[in-house]
Amino acid sequence: MTEPKRILVTSALPYANGPIHLGHLAGAYLPADVFCRYHRMLGSDLVYICGSDEHGAAIVKQSIAEGVDPQSIVDKYHALAMKDFAAFGMSFDHYGRTSSEAHRKTASEFFRTMAQKGAFTTKTEQLPYDPKVELFLADRFVMGTCPICGNESAYGDQCEKCGTALSPRELIDPRSTMSDAELVWKETTHFYLPMGEHQARLEAWIAEKTDWKVNVLGQIKSWFTLGLGERAMTRDLPWGVPIPEDVAAAAGVNAEGKVLYVWFDAPIGYVSSTREWAEQLGDPERWKTYWQREDTRLIHYIGKDNIVFHTLSFPLMLMLHGDYVLPENVPANEFLNLEGQKLSTSRGWAVWLGEALEAFPADYLRYSLLRTLPETRDADFTWADFSAHVNNELADNFGNFANRTIQFATKYLGGTVPELVDPSDADRAALEEMATFPARIGALIDQHRMRDAVQELMALGRLGNKYFNDGEPWATRSKDPQRCNNTVHVSLQICGALSVLAEPFIPFTAAKLRAILGVEGVRPSTPGGQGELGWADAARPLLTSGSALGTPEILVSKVDEAAIEAQLELLRTRSAAAAASTAEAPYAPVRDTITYDDFAKLDFRVGHVTSAERVKKSKKLIRCEVDLGFETRQILAGVAEHFTPEDLLGKRVIVVANLAPRKMVGLESQGMLLMAEDRGGALHMLTADSEPGSTVS
Ligand code: MF3
Ligand code: ZN
Repeated sequence: MTEPKRILVTSALPYANGPIHLGHLAGAYLPADVFCRYHRMLGSDLVYICGSDEHGAAIVKQSIAEGVDPQSIVDKYHALAMKDFAAFGMSFDHYGRTSSEAHRKTASEFFRTMAQKGAFTTKTEQLPYDPKVELFLADRFVMGTCPICGNESAYGDQCEKCGTALSPRELIDPRSTMSDAELVWKETTHFYLPMGEHQARLEAWIAEKTDWKVNVLGQIKSWFTLGLGERAMTRDLPWGVPIPEDVAAAAGVNAEGKVLYVWFDAPIGYVSSTREWAEQLGDPERWKTYWQREDTRLIHYIGKDNIVFHTLSFPLMLMLHGDYVLPENVPANEFLNLEGQKLSTSRGWAVWLGEALEAFPADYLRYSLLRTLPETRDADFTWADFSAHVNNELADNFGNFANRTIQFATKYLGGTVPELVDPSDADRAALEEMATFPARIGALIDQHRMRDAVQELMALGRLGNKYFNDGEPWATRSKDPQRCNNTVHVSLQICGALSVLAEPFIPFTAAKLRAILGVEGVRPSTPGGQGELGWADAARPLLTSGSALGTPEILVSKVDEAAIEAQLELLRTRSAAAAASTAEAPYAPVRDTITYDDFAKLDFRVGHVTSAERVKKSKKLIRCEVDLGFETRQILAGVAEHFTPEDLLGKRVIVVANLAPRKMVGLESQGMLLMAEDRGGALHMLTADSEPGSTVS
């Protein structure tokens, strides 16, 4: 296969309203970095684009809460993200930002072109408004009582407790989350993208994508099944890319106070960041050869919460604008949990990259994250696994092999690469097997299977260790010096291959190893470098007999218990602090008094959860089968953000057994599980150690 000419890789632009954490890295960043570093070594013409997503209602809300302007928030986190990403070894060609003047121009021009082509409709409607902060409120920022389950803190788009999709109109006593103001309804006009009109075109395009990941295709399919509606592409917000006045005027809309919807402007950030890259290169038109030619492979690395935007709405924007390449693939990852719990920055349950890098070298974090990537399902990062990955694999396999080989050559063979003379079958076999690794690892990277790719790298380390052990150079040294030389020669060549093939995964360690071995001229995996040796050259011996080795140094040192304990302690302290600050939150008020007869109407039973699985179309719902002794019920519990199906499975829970059944996402729920919710919003399951069907009163 001949490599296509150009590859354009993007990682989701992270919101610049908080620091980067390990969850980010495992989703959209580290896999993309491995892919890009590998392709640069292969010699592909590749550009890797990212930047900060600096708009959106969440940043406005934060600026109100902190009493500072949005720009100072995004300035702070944009700088921090750049610093942390660099220290972690992210190899972006360019890291832009959406509050830049250049981006605003590109985004509003994009909007104008689409509008002129008739892509939008306009609609005037009454929307929720907070008169105190003088802001229209996105559905997420309206709270009220759920009409279905009575949860008093249901959001305007969904009740987190029962999973029902809602609109602010349906909430009882809706209120603003931006202030304590009474919510009002106010008329406004917005531009809409009628996605439903283009569903057939999108379906036809997606139908060709048979090689996309199943988790991605699954989500797309359920969006199609639900039917693509229309989505507002503008907002009334004081922060964002202003809508072009001429476009507004032509549509008879007052442009004042209106900005582009953040999910309209942010993906255009990929384009504006590429333009900025080209400008800084002194070749301002160069971006077009990536974005506007059909033989570009456009690949968007994202987390699963971004799938709809990158597979449906942004591609539709590109189609309707015209003149743009569409994504070849959108390899979305699932979520990374932390120590068995969902990541939550507000609950202090996260590992900040900056902090982790103070404790450990970037490559240790990269390696363990690569081993844990949520490529096919949610995965769990634990510090115990981290320590096992570093100590038992990176140190004991990779580091140890390089170390013992180099130490041996230094100690007994004068610190030079001995000559290979009259190689044995075992020597030849080892070199032949080594030669298969660049293609093996590369194929996995190209299939976006980074977890398997890094395991394959370790397989080369194991090959080296086994070969070295079997050769017993410590024994042949006196009995048969040439045998000993051959063993060390071949082992050093395997080290050479490792020093190249490890580069995309653990670039800092790989560079160190190449320096010791004297492997020079390898094409850099970072932007802009030259070198005569590429990825494929790792198939052949790279070290010259007789050349001098550098001073051996420990490549990977083990992580000790204390360092791991310190991380766990940090996590505990931070989550306790977050809990303490929410503990100051008010207790939920006691509801109106009821009579005993009212209470007696409720039929609580003990139920045994016999099966539990996530509901595909919903972030919130877990579908359980609950055995009540006399019958089994299907119950949809809106707890997927708090518990895994495994947490529920086998539990004896308390069920409201006489609640009228209701439908959610097309499934009938025949009851409800009781949960305690603390002031911090954490859920705790109510269980009873009694036989299924037991009454509770
Ligand atoms: N900021 C978004 C998030 O963190 C991702 C934006 S990706 C882009 O979920 F395509 F819009 F840039
Ligand atoms: Zn509800």
